[in-house]
Amino acid sequence: MSRTVYVNGDYLPEEEAKISIFDRGFLMADGVYEVTSVLGGKLIDFDGHAKRLERSLKELDMAAPVTMDELLAIHRELVAKNAIVDGAVYLQVTRGSAGDRDFAFPDPEKVPSSLVLFTQSKPGMAYDPKVQKGISVISIDDIRWGRRDIKTVQLLYPSMGKMMAKAAGADDAWMVEDGMVTEGTSNNAYIVKGGKIITRALSNDILHGITRAAVLRFAREAQMEVEERSFSIDEAKDADEAFITSASTFVMPVVKIDGAAVGEGKPGRVALRLREIYLDESCKAGI
Ligand code: PDD
Repeated sequence: MSRTVYVNGDYLPEEEAKISIFDRGFLMADGVYEVTSVLGGKLIDFDGHAKRLERSLKELDMAAPVTMDELLAIHRELVAKNAIVDGAVYLQVTRGSAGDRDFAFPDPEKVPSSLVLFTQSKPGMAYDPKVQKGISVISIDDIRWGRRDIKTVQLLYPSMGKMMAKAAGADDAWMVEDGMVTEGTSNNAYIVKGGKIITRALSNDILHGITRAAVLRFAREAQMEVEERSFSIDEAKDADEAFITSASTFVMPVVKIDGAAVGEGKPGRVALRLREIYLDESCKAGI
């Protein structure tokens, strides 16, 4: 069934939505994005995603096309128009089209940024059967640029990483730089050792996951010990548990790294507990 999507002020059937071939998102990957999950018709962690979007725009000197209140209204309208119960809203802002190709940024007074949103329906996404088995990851070099804290649409290497994982018979890849895990191709990475949750500290090296922030907050509230520091693949293989977080997977256990079982090779107690708390609390707070 055709979706209703949003393009620069208009709600349109997806077949009618158009963006210029000169749009800098298309030509230069000059754009940022957010993925906000929807559970039971409610937006999960919308405030966090809106704040990160504002930060990404600011870091790239890109104008916000609408206010954050308007953005919330557009999200809600799309969820309603597409009758989304469980799924996601994808949002992308690009520096727009100056009508030609040029490396220099166009004057934002003359060239407005573009705003596109669409929904993805994923009924029952909170009950993903993969959670029962856990996922496997391979390790790959992190060869991305140095501003991974900005959520840009430059996703070629993460896509390649997912293809490398698929070719190796795994579900995803963890990226490694200077011997330490940065993050997953589209998620943050964690290990658990002796009850302690370990995940890389925030910096320009990783995306500041909105799910990460919520999960660490819930973990601390539940008196779980959290250590924000880097870890290597060898340390991860030797951990009791491993997991990832993102808006699309919530908390997902990782049971195998480069073919080696993590802990007992089954989803860990801490990961499953955090998933339960995250889903409960986020659904309650959904808007
Ligand atoms: N990806 N790290 C990277 C590189 C990501 O692309 C993502 C999100 C995350 C987790 O961030 P959050 O918890 O805010 O979703 C970490 C989204 C889901 C995507 O690209 O589809």
